[in-house]
Amino acid sequence: MTDRHTPSPDDIRPPLSEREAIENCIRSATTAPSLHNSQPWLFRIGAGVIDVYADRRRQLEVLDPTGRELLISVGAAVSTLALALRGAGYRADVVAFPDDGQPDLVARVTVGHRAPPSPAEETLVAAIPHRHTNRYPFTSCAIPAETLEQLIDAARQETAVLTVANPVSRNSIIGLSQAADRRQRATGGYRAELARWTTHRVVHHDGIPPSAIGPWDAMEIMPIRDFGLLQPHLTRAPETFEIHPTLMVLATTGDDPLEWVRAGQALQRVLLTATHLNLATTPISQPVEVPTVRRQLSDTANGIWAQMILRIGYGRPAATTPRRPLSDVLLPSLT
Ligand SMILES: Cc1cc2nc3c(=O)[nH]c(=O)nc-3n(C[C@H](O)[C@H](O)[C@H](O)COP(=O)(O)O)c2cc1C
Repeated sequence: MTDRHTPSPDDIRPPLSEREAIENCIRSATTAPSLHNSQPWLFRIGAGVIDVYADRRRQLEVLDPTGRELLISVGAAVSTLALALRGAGYRADVVAFPDDGQPDLVARVTVGHRAPPSPAEETLVAAIPHRHTNRYPFTSCAIPAETLEQLIDAARQETAVLTVANPVSRNSIIGLSQAADRRQRATGGYRAELARWTTHRVVHHDGIPPSAIGPWDAMEIMPIRDFGLLQPHLTRAPETFEIHPTLMVLATTGDDPLEWVRAGQALQRVLLTATHLNLATTPISQPVEVPTVRRQLSDTANGIWAQMILRIGYGRPAATTPRRPLSDVLLPSLT
């Protein structure tokens, strides 16, 4: 009997070596969100482990003097790496800050024996390439309560707290964001730092390209950072954004480097869950970058610290942003 099966490319392609599979997982990890698309991470493949380092040369000294947002970004990459490994059929165990002597070694991910991913893991893995920061207007469609509950649960799985802002706190967040924006624009070095990540770009492997800046908010209400501030030559059509945005506050219990990494892991799990649910998302960090404003969004008496504001809604597809090639983020293996 003749075999009528037509070979697909997958039949013909030789199976990936473990090294290639792990490199693909690291490539996935680099799609994580990061402050100004700074991609402040480095990876080293070891024997049965992948070490993830903070790249302090990419810290935004003006906006992020403590490195809190740098570690949120690295935490998001760690979470993506672990998920990608699960998607590739490996067990992945994450230990944060495994070596007191190496504070920039943010996480060691042990690549375990093979085990198929759960349906929930597969769902998040499938969302990884489709998650993008969306700075377009969203529709005024209400988000169902059970959908919001799924996002809250995603944060809870990473020991973080996600709260939907009620109308009063939403208006207060918008006001606080506008105050933070004014404060930052008046801060020495803010514009120069913004310029480093948005303009005069020779090689486009990081930073925010014009295509991702989004339209002009005709009402000037939406608290989205203006990445076009220093590029008046860009023609951005004014558009009307949703009047009552859905805003959520992502917070952690405590406020130290470990909690910042956890916040990043929670952020990415929430964003991927939202992507799976066809929701568009915008991380908004200006109000948590100004300490006095951040304190107003936190409940410090009870140890709860706001780490990020998220805008969620239904919107048109967002632009992609560039990523550094693997050769830029992979440290040589130790022999
Ligand atoms: C810690 C952190 C802070 C961020 N702050 C903002 C922000 O204030 N405004 C904004 O529009 N995007 C913000 N973002 C989104 C990044 O700009 C975005 O992740 C990056 O440009 C890469 O694009 P992508 O998310 O589409 O992959 C933030 C992301 C992270 C992780």
